[in-house]
Order: sequence, then structure tokens, then C-alpha cells
Amino acid sequence: MAATGNEHRGTKAFYVSTPIYYVNDAPHLGHAYTTVAGDVLSRWHRQRGEKVWYLTGTDEHGQKIMRTAEAHGVTPQEWCDKLVEEAWQPLWKHLEIANDDFIRTTQPRHTARVQEFVQSLYDKGEIYQGGYEGPYCVGCEEYKTPGELLDGAGEYAGQKLCPIHKRPVEMLKEENYFFKLSEYGPKLLEHYERNPGFIQPESARNEVVNFVRQGLQDLSISRSTFDWGIRIPWDDKHVIYVWVDALLNYATAVGYGADQEKFEQTFPADVHLVGKDILRFHAVIWPAMLMANGLPLPGKVVANGWLMVGGEKMSKSNLTGISPHQLTDHFGVDAYRWYFLRAIQFGQDGSFSWEDFQARYTSELANDFGNLASRVAAMVGRYFDGVLPQGPAAGPAEQAVADGLAKAAREADERIGERLDFAGGIAAVFDFIKQVNGYLTEQEPWKVAKDASPEGQARLAAILYTAAESLRATAVLLNPVMPATCEKLWASLGAEPHLGPLAEQRVADAGTWGRLPAGARVTKGEALFPRLEEPARA
Ligand code: ME8
Ligand code: MG
Repeated sequence: MAATGNEHRGTKAFYVSTPIYYVNDAPHLGHAYTTVAGDVLSRWHRQRGEKVWYLTGTDEHGQKIMRTAEAHGVTPQEWCDKLVEEAWQPLWKHLEIANDDFIRTTQPRHTARVQEFVQSLYDKGEIYQGGYEGPYCVGCEEYKTPGELLDGAGEYAGQKLCPIHKRPVEMLKEENYFFKLSEYGPKLLEHYERNPGFIQPESARNEVVNFVRQGLQDLSISRSTFDWGIRIPWDDKHVIYVWVDALLNYATAVGYGADQEKFEQTFPADVHLVGKDILRFHAVIWPAMLMANGLPLPGKVVANGWLMVGGEKMSKSNLTGISPHQLTDHFGVDAYRWYFLRAIQFGQDGSFSWEDFQARYTSELANDFGNLASRVAAMVGRYFDGVLPQGPAAGPAEQAVADGLAKAAREADERIGERLDFAGGIAAVFDFIKQVNGYLTEQEPWKVAKDASPEGQARLAAILYTAAESLRATAVLLNPVMPATCEKLWASLGAEPHLGPLAEQRVADAGTWGRLPAGARVTKGEALFPRLEEPARA
């Protein structure tokens, strides 16, 4: 959990959000991908010493949830409660997600404030009554434009399909309330222009800019054909459109209309993490809603790419058959957190492969990183009775390692902390690990150990100090990605009595050479990355 000490009083938190996910089904690899990324980003900023607020939650209203509950013979609320308590929250706990709050859109702290927000737009003349008829996709909970629909074939021959869900759309005709979204096009374009980093990556930004340039239509923000939603306060025959309800979670969860101090210290989000499917909602509708109500806009909206399977976006109706639990059973939670961020360039699509995971686990985690940690601990144990020796003044080989560390630490901070380039930041640390392995191969401490002269022993001390100090920094830099593993390493290095808890180590100090003091008690714990059992899957 975040440190919220006095040092932070009055400063605005670095606020990171995930989408709030639909609870029509259990979470899959795609949801976990975004949520792990947000967790790593939040932990990174906490280790920068910033006050951080990491929010996730669930989207519980709308037709999709209502129909799922009906199909299971329970009320929508019963369905949501069950899924949240038995599937969503337990998975986040299992994956070591350190969110500061979990918002559910059926909570009164949310529903009451959503009504106030919408009422306030109505009072300002931003909402009017009108009629609409068009193709609607319940999977997206969105009206589609006829031009974007696909022609069905086979079982759907003659029907029009949603381009995302590849299922028939429904014609919907309703009298409802509209938000004057069309008036915000120019203001949005101006905002994108002035804030080039507002939408990331670049491809996502271009898509949104092109979309807004074509002209925006007003947005239908109410529904009267079903009632699983938040009532429109001035007309209780209507419920609020699920997307307007859902987007407001980012405000209601941090005290909008309820706790002004908390709101000012948290809102707006610095980073909204989303998938490409919901980019327009976050980069067009959400900022327009905020402008309309005189609230500040978020720092950036960052879209992750798709986890693909068989060339298609992985979704609830198109699963790999592999659940997050199956992967963590086989590879462990930390390797899981690491793999998707390491193997896929954030923002781009990527295919999951069991074989690729297996190969990277073995070469990078078990061999490069895990073996380095266990070899160094074993040698400090064998040659120095487990007490980290004082290294004499560093020679050129040691200086090269220290320089490599400083570079890796700078690069990881820039890439992960600023650019959300998780793969690049992790690679910088693993390149450093490779460098340390290369250093040990060259220095051959196991041979130096046979030289019992004072010079030989001093040389051995220098080598092992250099390796242990490198591991100290590695534990700090990888802690946001693999917290349990890095805790083990921190314990094995005997660092805590000297340097304090791992989570309190600062990124800015990680690259400073010589922090782990001589005298630290080094012990060889269990392997950081145990050898994998035979593949659990054919
Ligand atoms: O859209 N690859 O919820 P949702 C990568 N309730 N990310 C994926 C993914 C994949 N194959 N599949 C899902 C909703 N995701 C709304 C959000 S927010 C105010 C309301 C991730 O359950 C990705 O982040 O359909 C995507 O945007 C999100 O899950 C969609 O989750
Ligand atoms: Mg979806």
C-alpha cells in the first residue's frame, strides 16, 4: 500500500487508473495485462518517493451485465457481488496488485455523485431531450455508425456485425437525453494540439485526431428500455448511459462532490491506462464531459495494444483457454507480471505464447538473474562466512560495472517512469545483469579464491562486493515488477538492517555505487526462479 506520510501532505498524488472492467465474466489475461502495467507504474512512482494513488474497480451497470445476470437466474446486483468477490478482487490480490482503492459503480459513493454531475450538466444547458435510432452493440455498449459495420456470413448471413465483437448489432430507437458533445470538437482538437503527449502512443493519437476532425455527434446519455443503471435525477423513467456512469468513476472514487480536499489532492488522473477498444471514450467523451463541467483534464490517456490469440484480439468469447491462474501456477506470480511487460512493447499488439514464456523464463529469469543471485550468495558464504567483505578501491573492471549500473538506473527510470516503455526499462536492467555475469566470467572469482595471499583475498573481496552491490541495485530496480522475488533477494543480501525496507528504496539512489555496506550478512535462500516442471500443457 502507498506510503501516505506527512511528507506528502498537501501535494497532489500521482494518480494512475485502469479501466473499470465489466463483471459479466471473470477476468482474463487481457484485463490482467492492463492492471499489472498500472501496478508497475504506480510502484515505480512510489519508489520515486512520490505520493501515488492507484485506482481500479468494476463497471456493473448496463445491458450487458443485466442480460448475463438474467441468463444465470440471479439479480444483476447478486451477479456483480459474486463476480467481484469471487473472481476479480481475488485475482488482483493473487497478482500482488497494490491498488489504493477499488471502486464499484453500484456503490452509493458513486451513484449519488454521478447523479449530481449529470444534473449539473443539465442545469448548465449541456443536455437536451431528443430522439435517436441506430445500430447498437451491447458488447461495446455503444451506438455504431453504419459505415463501420461488417457484413455477416454463415450463421450471421444478411446481418450487420460489430467490427470488434463480430456479432450482430441491434437496431435501437429511443427518446432520450443528449449531451452536446458535437460542440467540443474544436476545443478537443486544440487540447490535443497543445498537449502532444495527451494521447499515447502516437498511432492512438492520430486515430483520435482523425476521428474528431470528421466532426462529433451529440451523445445519447440515457436509456429508457431497461432499468439496470443510475436514474436520471430529473426524469426517473431513464437511466444514465453506462459509459457516462463508468467514466465518472475516476472522479467519484477520489472524492468528487464529497471530499473536496481529497479531490483536489488527487484529481485529475496523471495516467489513464486503457485498451485501444475504449480509447475514444477516454480521449474524446471523458475530456468533453470534464470541460463541460469546468473540471481539469487528465495528464495522459495511454492505450495498450491487444494480447492476440490466433491473429485476433483475445476476449471473453475468444479465450486462449489459458487463465492467469494457470500461468501463475506454472511460472509463479512474479514471472507472470514480468513476462507480458518484458515481451511486448507497450502500446503494440503482441501474441502470447507458452513456448516464448518458457524460453524467456529459463534464459533471462532463471539463468541470467536467478543464477547470478545464488552464485554470489554462495561464494560470499563459502569464502567470507557470509559476511560481505570490504572491497578495496575499484579498478577499471569494477568501474565499468558501476558505470553500467548508473546508466541502467537512469534509463529504467526514464523509460518506465516517464515513457511507460516497460519493455525497454526492464531490458535496461537485464542488460546490466548480463554485464555483471560477464564481469564474473572474466574475473573468475572461483580461481582467485585459490590464491591465499593478501592480494588474492583483496581481489576476491572486490569481485564479490561488486557483484553483491550490483544485486542490491537490481533488487531496487526490479521491485516494482517482481516484488516478492526482490524481497527474497533483499533478504538474501542482508540489506534491510543497513538500508531499510526494500519498498522504501528510492529509484534516484539505486544507481549510486557503494550503498550496500561491508558487513551485511549474506545468506543463500531458495532459488529465485525454480526450475520449471514439465509444461502443464501439450
Ligand atoms: O471496456 N489485450 O470493460 P472491459 C489487452 N467497462 N488488453 C485487454 C484485452 C486484450 N486482449 N482484453 C481486455 C470496459 N483488455 C469498460 C471500461 S472504463 C471507464 C470502462 C483490457 O471489461 C483493456 O484495458 O471490456 C481493455 O480496454 C479493457 O480490458 C476492457 O475491459
Ligand atoms: Mg470489452
